[in-house]
Amino acid sequence: ISRAFSSSVVKNAVIKNVTIIGGGQMGAGIAQVAASTGHTVTLVDTSEDILKKSRKGIEGSLKRVVKKKFADKPEAGEEFIQKVMQNVSISTDAGASVQTADLLLEAIVENLKVKQELFGQLDKLAPANTIFASNTSSLPITDIASSTNRLDRFGGLHFFNPVPMMKLVEVVGTSTTSQETFDSLLNFSKALGKTPVSCKDTPGFIVNRLLVPYMMEALRLHERGHGSKEDIDIAMKLGAGYPMGPFELCDYVGLDTVKFIIDGWSEKDPHNPLFAPSELLNKLVAEGKYGKKTGEGFYKYK
Ligand code: 3HC
Repeated sequence: ISRAFSSSVVKNAVIKNVTIIGGGQMGAGIAQVAASTGHTVTLVDTSEDILKKSRKGIEGSLKRVVKKKFADKPEAGEEFIQKVMQNVSISTDAGASVQTADLLLEAIVENLKVKQELFGQLDKLAPANTIFASNTSSLPITDIASSTNRLDRFGGLHFFNPVPMMKLVEVVGTSTTSQETFDSLLNFSKALGKTPVSCKDTPGFIVNRLLVPYMMEALRLHERGHGSKEDIDIAMKLGAGYPMGPFELCDYVGLDTVKFIIDGWSEKDPHNPLFAPSELLNKLVAEGKYGKKTGEGFYKYK
């Protein structure tokens, strides 16, 4: 990939200090992986309560990781958890925490205006060399970056749920992302122990562009009466080797998220049959049945 813009301020920049905005599932998962690989992380959200929950979530997930990784050395596992947790600070002051950040990574609500406002404000407060990145799953990085004056130091860094388990990171460069910034983001992904792939700033990048239409077609197939959700899930697990069937995956990702993504794409490209709506999805979302996180989606959860 050749990049038009070049920026000397981030030449060979190694990312060590990371500020992550958003203590939800994705933000906390990224914080966990970054802290586990020796990075210093500040996790930022709007309230101490949310952040305490994020820390609890990280600890819980670390216990699951350690149970496997240190199966025959539980003390070493406990030590590892302590060490990792020492690398994670929490803060409700994004402006202050970004002062020492090599990377500012955003994982907040999928709302373009809210993201633009956040980055616009922090652009004025952050040091010149801080790289900005968004974990958006479906909004154009170019649109988010437009609220800042660091177009060359702005990219996408898209992780997958559950972050500690999923090995992929999509690194997204816009037409103005500098090669140095792009390389830093690639190297950071590798330093996290992940495998990065290079993506253009196109809707859904690679994974969601293929995965979301696939999930939608599974719902429509079911709506046409061509298969029960249980059979479709079994079919894709045993016939295509997917770890979860499309209905299970929808529940796992969140029906609200899937609907948000497909509605956004459909608005921009209304005649694309891949982006056609599903009445069943719309109905469940209207009823507040978002999947695993609310206890019910296509299936019920304890
Ligand atoms: N943290 C740490 N360890 C975890 C974990 C987590 N959050 N989730 C799972 N594990 C590990 C644990 O070791 C667990 O064992 P444990 O239950 O004894 O602790 C082990 O994985 C096995 O987990 P499960 O028994 O619950 O189930 P699976 O074997 O099916 O594995 C899975 C779980 C890794 C989630 C697997 O089902 C999977 O890969 N599913 C597909 C996920 C996927 O496609 N994600 C992408 C979604 S799209 C996306 O994120 C993009 C966004 O923009 C929409």
